[in-house]
Amino acid sequence: MTSDPFVPSANSRSTRPQSPKPPGTESGGAISRRGFIHGAGAAAFVLGGMGAGGPSLAQTCTFPTGAVIPFATDTNLPIRVRRRIDSLDAVEQTRLKTAFAALKLLTTTAPQDPRGWMAQADVHCWYCGQSGTDIHGSWFFYPWHRAYLYFYERILGALINDVSFTLPYWPWDTLQHLPDDYHDATLSLNPLFDSLRIRTNTSQVPSSVANTRMLQDAMLTRQRDVFLGSAPNAIPQNTASLEATPHGSIHNWIGGINPPRPDMSLFRTAARDPVFFTHHSQIDRLWTMWVGQPQRFNHSDPAWLNQTWDFIDENQRLVRISVRNVLDHENELRYRYDDVSISPGVVPSPGSISGSTTTLATISVDEPPGGRALGPMPITFTVDLSLDDRTTLLAARPEFGRAVNLEIEGIEVPADSAAVIKIFLNQPAATAATLAEDPGFLTTLSFVASSDQPQPMQHGKQTVSLDISDRIPSLLLTVTPLQVTLAPTNMDDAPPDSISLQYDALRLRVVQVNA
Ligand code: C2O
Repeated sequence: MTSDPFVPSANSRSTRPQSPKPPGTESGGAISRRGFIHGAGAAAFVLGGMGAGGPSLAQTCTFPTGAVIPFATDTNLPIRVRRRIDSLDAVEQTRLKTAFAALKLLTTTAPQDPRGWMAQADVHCWYCGQSGTDIHGSWFFYPWHRAYLYFYERILGALINDVSFTLPYWPWDTLQHLPDDYHDATLSLNPLFDSLRIRTNTSQVPSSVANTRMLQDAMLTRQRDVFLGSAPNAIPQNTASLEATPHGSIHNWIGGINPPRPDMSLFRTAARDPVFFTHHSQIDRLWTMWVGQPQRFNHSDPAWLNQTWDFIDENQRLVRISVRNVLDHENELRYRYDDVSISPGVVPSPGSISGSTTTLATISVDEPPGGRALGPMPITFTVDLSLDDRTTLLAARPEFGRAVNLEIEGIEVPADSAAVIKIFLNQPAATAATLAEDPGFLTTLSFVASSDQPQPMQHGKQTVSLDISDRIPSLLLTVTPLQVTLAPTNMDDAPPDSISLQYDALRLRVVQVNA
């Protein structure tokens, strides 16, 4: 896999050191709370609902209220480097575990402390619908999670008095198993371990969940609504491309979907699993890599840039941060990744482009009145393309500033369900068992349940747009009609027991990427 553009070339630290002593058994000199207990305005907020007993599945999540200060860049902070999880040396592995041990200890010793492990997991839960907003399914996906990881990382660093602390990232596309540090022999003594997972470090991530080709497809697009997603009230409301694939699949793979359970398979509890943060660090890195390519642009819409959210900082203060604040993470949040190299994606078209799009044509694949509910078995749609359609599709080349999206509009999955579908092109025999190596495999879309409890965490309707421009020439080589197969799957290449997913329409959309 050395040619994989998403993975840093082999570096000097290729040997994997022995796991350190479990931090829970060490004399806890690393945990010092001095320095942030005073001056923090610690009583300025009220943390409701966090029972003194810590985790309880019956509780819904809450969020502190109180005085809020605006975010300011901490210019005294060194620029910290987030590293690939399997490149950490023994000292870095111990540091990671010590920091998470301190975070978990805080939940036990000071359950009202909003920086603790469970209180921080509630921050994610809170913004997944409890608060009335859901930061999934729209253009808020990347920036919200970036801000969340920033504050979480600063808290971990403060708890071990180490301002250089960073979260590692897990490049699941090539490191296709749970990272060893999160599942080592010490198990429950390992603060990175979560006994609720159904996977171990020897379970293989199926390549239909995450692989290099799927990532390349997602990274190729220059359409910002496709990669970044669109406004929550936009029509269609695009989900960010990496959110449905492979972000959701990693959640569902680790937690299991039959039924979706704590921790990783429910947004309500996902951030209780330390692996959440190494997973999201990789997602965050891919955003950096996408926008670092030629002709990729973040949204410029003030409705995106000016959106704010509140987080808890390492001094227990409520801090309000905007999307604008997180875009230049190296200068404003003071961290970078050890490697963001990527092979150039598409042939750049002349002139500059904005990344917004205008529709040139749509070609219907499936638009039944009242929408369609999928069952567990695969379904194939055949589109008889007219000569005009073929011409339009073939002319939709990146070098002409055009693109073709396969769009599933108005997807609805009940808040307490997971849904996973594999998508194939011109492979009508495909089933849940057909692997990602099949030439007709396009991608796997995975929707994560919000909650297993009755609470206001409903998803809105989402639209997923897949930029398939690069597939068009080979798809149209033959005169066969175009065939699109949707094959519901569990996370193990088999049909699900059941699936609850409805959509309004399936179509091809030909767009002009605007200059
Ligand atoms: Cu907010 Cu991976 O989820």
